[in-house]
Amino acid sequence: MAEDNQKRKREAWGSRLGIVLAVAGSAVGLGNFLRFPVQAASNGGGAFMIPYFISLLLLGIPLMWVEWTLGRYGGGFEHSTAPGIFHTMSRKARFVKYFGIIGIFGPVVIFMYYTYIESWLLGFSFFSITGKYAEVTGKEEMQGFLQAYQGLVKNNHFSSLLPAYIFFLITFAINMIVVSFGVRGGIEKLCKIAMPLLLGLGIVILIRVLTLSAPDAAKPEWNVMNGLGFMWNPDFAALKNAKVWLAAAGQIFFTLSVGIGCILTYASYLSKEDDVVLSGLTSVSVNEFSEVILGGSIIIPAAFIFFGAAGVQTVAQEGAFNLGFVTMPLIFKQIPLGGIFIFIWFFLLFVAGVTSSVSMLQPAIAFIEDEFDISRKKAIGILWGALFILCQPAVFFLKHGVVDELDFWAGTFCLVLFATVEVILFAWVYGIDRSWDEMHLGAELRVPRIYRFIIKYITPSFLLIILGFWFVQQGLPTILMRSVPTENQVYVLTTRLGLVCLFLVLMVCLKIAWSRKRKRGVEI
Ligand code: ALA
Repeated sequence: MAEDNQKRKREAWGSRLGIVLAVAGSAVGLGNFLRFPVQAASNGGGAFMIPYFISLLLLGIPLMWVEWTLGRYGGGFEHSTAPGIFHTMSRKARFVKYFGIIGIFGPVVIFMYYTYIESWLLGFSFFSITGKYAEVTGKEEMQGFLQAYQGLVKNNHFSSLLPAYIFFLITFAINMIVVSFGVRGGIEKLCKIAMPLLLGLGIVILIRVLTLSAPDAAKPEWNVMNGLGFMWNPDFAALKNAKVWLAAAGQIFFTLSVGIGCILTYASYLSKEDDVVLSGLTSVSVNEFSEVILGGSIIIPAAFIFFGAAGVQTVAQEGAFNLGFVTMPLIFKQIPLGGIFIFIWFFLLFVAGVTSSVSMLQPAIAFIEDEFDISRKKAIGILWGALFILCQPAVFFLKHGVVDELDFWAGTFCLVLFATVEVILFAWVYGIDRSWDEMHLGAELRVPRIYRFIIKYITPSFLLIILGFWFVQQGLPTILMRSVPTENQVYVLTTRLGLVCLFLVLMVCLKIAWSRKRKRGVEI
């Protein structure tokens, strides 16, 4: 398998703007426009922003700095993924590298369902310009359109999964093609175009929503200001509920893409002198602008204007997909040039999705390239085949709860666990003094000293508390399948078995990679 003895040239970013946009691209995704408004609206409205900003300051920003620093440090040892990076940080504790597998497993598993959801957005963008979607009217019919497209029901709109499958194939191919051009030629180029486009489209939609007038003359109180008030007026009683704090912390992880493993890999292509402090903070700021300003001011206020407070609550309870695929188009259908806005909305979400999903591929590619010394071309070939098979359950068994199960393990549990390991390694194993100096190499901004204390004590404690609460509140009932219908339990258990097998395969690969390195006398 090893390539000729010739040394492979490591990839590198073309510019600082390139990596900042790539990390921001990884962060800005469906979570910003769909997940965030639902979480905020159903967890105390404006009061949600208190645990949200506390989590941002105590978890999100520190973890962003930790990941940028660890990634750049690992890149100096030719490691772009967590197993190698963790190994170089703690050579005495050899088992630590096995925790690093979560940083490859997590993004791969998220990719397995995220790409399928992303493909719905491509499909719906297509239907909104071809006019197929224009024929659909009314909430029930739109819900039926979505469900038939997803293969949950059959009706006059779709009688099979074929259209959804075709858009899945196209989306899968787009992702693979982008990464096949490499970090600089593929991901960076994509993000340099996609991020300004995404922000531009987001601002267009935002302006349209903020200039909507109350559609019902009999209900003048259903207006933009009250819509924003509904979203942001705090219900402080909600803060007594641990669930609200967990939801806020979970949203910070998901939205910033921290604890996944992607940012480590992106940062590993920096050089030693490149700043990580200001760049990390800039990527957080771009994400927060997209989430709080754009994501927070579009869906919920728009839904309020058309359906009022009680209507929004019902819609938010129906979940993010209904909000994105049914409610927003339903609203836009009622305004002039609505078809164009429906297209912009779906396409905006699709673009946001692609810049996130390509980042989930890079850790696996980098792992094969770095640890097995295989060329990118071959690594992509291996991954193309393996991932194509791994994505199938999300497509075909959606109605049996497979996507929820994958999201629970990879999109919730692994993030918090991986982040806990990272921060302990950074602050305690490598040591806060060395880590702090490492973080400030080439830094264009000095991090306030209070963050030494936060990273060493507060962030790990906060993470352990979240893990504990989460385990009791959601983990245990989910593991015991308390809300899984009996007919779906076999699918859920099979998904779990599949995930365990995937994790074991990655462990074996890591073991093989290390023993091959040892045999070849490569310093590890
Ligand atoms: N951070 C990505 C999102 O928000 C995964 O969708």
